[in-house]
Order: sequence, then structure tokens, then C-alpha cells
Amino acid sequence: MRFPRLTAMAALLVSSTAACAAEVPPLPVNFGVLVFPAFQALDVFGPLDTLNMLSTLFKTNLYIIAETLDPVSTKTRSASMNTTGSNFGESIVPTHTFANPPALDVLIIPGGAGTRAGTLLDPAREYIKATFPTLQYLLTVCTGSALAASTGILDGKNATSNKAAWVWATGQGPNVNWVPRARWTVDGNVWTTSGVAAGMDGTFAFVKAVYGEEAFVWIRNKVEYMPQEDSHVDPWGEFYNTTWPIVS
Ligand SMILES: *[C@@H]1O[C@H](CO)[C@@H](O)[C@H](O)[C@H]1NC(C)=O
Ligand SMILES: *[C@@H]1O[C@H](CO)[C@@H](O)[C@H](O)[C@H]1NC(C)=O
Ligand SMILES: *[C@@H]1O[C@H](CO)[C@@H](O)[C@H](O)[C@H]1NC(C)=O
Repeated sequence: MRFPRLTAMAALLVSSTAACAAEVPPLPVNFGVLVFPAFQALDVFGPLDTLNMLSTLFKTNLYIIAETLDPVSTKTRSASMNTTGSNFGESIVPTHTFANPPALDVLIIPGGAGTRAGTLLDPAREYIKATFPTLQYLLTVCTGSALAASTGILDGKNATSNKAAWVWATGQGPNVNWVPRARWTVDGNVWTTSGVAAGMDGTFAFVKAVYGEEAFVWIRNKVEYMPQEDSHVDPWGEFYNTTWPIVS
């Protein structure tokens, strides 16, 4: 077998008691990405490209979940944030709505300017709150952690966020243990990453932890990316001198 995780699982199944085998949690199969207008492209497509590759190694399914089935654009919904008048952005096509969602093992919540849309995100918040208890894993990228935190589900948990948006993001969840210097955090089944590109590192770390080193190495070498493998290395935490609690 090519993957250590599978080998380990098979060994447990053949050699030991059912109780032992039950200690290996099932590999996640059903992934969902929540999207909203003005999501950050790389927050979604960085993790997804890695997971697309993963799907060639392990049976997995992907669902794109939004408020409606209309294409969801990276473009801002606020005229005041479009000071250049540029016409620039791209859309992703949802497969499901918050009202009629698929069962998931993993939910990915991206960030982006759209996380600042206030009450317009309430349907997303209700979906997150209702879905979280059913998940095997939650993975947030960038200010996706701020959106998740605003529902209360991260209270008492370690999380991080985009260091360039630190004060705003942490303000969305005053009862979260915000980790000011982290490329990503893992607390139980909750994975959160720092800004934008950090989502790629967090996703690679997730693949390594859950699907095994061989899958991680194979994907890394196919996409020619050198993920940060130490979650404590956070140059942007240093750059922005982030603290928690906030020291002003
Ligand atoms: C900015 O505004 C222009 C003019 O209203 C619109 O055509 C364009 O789609 C907007 N661009 C973005 C990036 O939101
Ligand atoms: C949470 O973060 C603190 C540092 O703020 C760390 O000491 C602790 O080990 C972390 N807990 C988990 C579950 O990672
Ligand atoms: C970083 O923040 C801490 C706490 O607010 C402060 O004591 C320190 O002087 C700051 N360092 C820099 C380089 O700004």
C-alpha cells in the first residue's frame, strides 16, 4: 500500500481487536466550502487545489455551499470598496444552499473582504452554527475564523486569523483564545489559519495529519510548492506585532 495511514488501518483491522481498530477515526470523505460575495480567491482555491489532488488518492466529494445557487463572485458588494472602478473578479458556482445543505465531514470557511458584510452574513452564520456539531473537522482560512467566531462556536478554543486584519478579526470573538503568532492552529477538530496563503500551509498540514505523510509529499511534489511545516513560524505575526489580548 502506498499510504501509511491505510497500511496502519489495515494492520489494526487484521491483527487486533475491534476496539483497537475503532481508535482510527474514519477518513473524511465529504468536503464543503462555504462561499459568500467577496470571498478571497486563494482562501478557496489554495486549499481546493490541494484537495483536488487528494481526491485522486482518496475517495472524496466536494460541495460548494452558499445562500443561493447563483454564481458567487470575489467582487465586493460595496461600492465604497471599489474606488478604482475596476471590473475584476471571478465566480464559483454553488452546488447547494444553506437551506438545503449536504451532510459534510469537513467544512472549509474562507475569508476575504466579504466577511465584513455584517448582518448580510446571518444566513451563513446560522448554517455554520447548525453544521458545526455534525462535522468531523472545521477548517477556516484567513478571516474565515472571524466569521466562525462571530457565531460563538470558537469560544474557548484556540484560533488564529489574518495578522493584517487582527484587531477586527479578533473582535468578532472576544471569548476565543486567539493565538497571535501562528501560521495555523489546531484545537481538537478545529483548524484555523493565518492570512490567505497560510490556508495552503494549513491544508497541507491537515493532509499530512489526516491522510498521511506520503499523500502530503506526493501532492507537494506535484504542485511544486514548499508548504511551511512549522505552525509556529509566523513572519506576519512578527511584522504586525500581533498580541492577544489586544495591547494598544
Ligand atoms: C466596480 O464598479 C464597476 C462599476 O460600477 C463594476 O462594473 C465592477 O464590477 C466593480 N468591480 C468590482 C471589482 O467590484
Ligand atoms: C492553545 O494555545 C496555547 C497558547 O496560547 C497553547 O499553550 C495551547 O497548547 C494551545 N492548545 C491547543 C489545544 O493547541
Ligand atoms: C510589540 O507589542 C508589544 C506589546 O504591545 C510591545 O511591548 C512591543 O514594544 C511591540 N514591539 C514592536 C517592535 O513594536
